[in-house]
Amino acid sequence: MTTTRLTVAGETRSFTLAVGETILHAAMEQGLHLDHACGGVCACSTCHVKVTAGAECLSAASEDELDQLDTARDVNLDSRLGCQAKLLRAPAGGAIAITIPQWNVNAVREGAGH
Ligand code: FES
Repeated sequence: MTTTRLTVAGETRSFTLAVGETILHAAMEQGLHLDHACGGVCACSTCHVKVTAGAECLSAASEDELDQLDTARDVNLDSRLGCQAKLLRAPAGGAIAITIPQWNVNAVREGAGH
């Protein structure tokens, strides 16, 4: 298990991410609701997150993911879809760190249902 730090509007929460698990699935399983309008099938961009540390330990973005990110706001080189980015290996001596784009912070709710 890898500790993942999620920062939303300056507040940081943590959840664990297992090898093979997506950021969206792990966060939701641990009570952190990330928006996911299409249900996690790479058909929207509402699960847009920015991976600011440990990105090299995640799966590479597919063409479909990159196409969806093209429709998202506030995209940069750290941008990933939470439903597509899977942990491939634990980061050496560190954690995965992600932030939610500022425009989307209201979509993150702690303790919300799926
Ligand atoms: S939830 Fe729709 S692309 Fe991730």
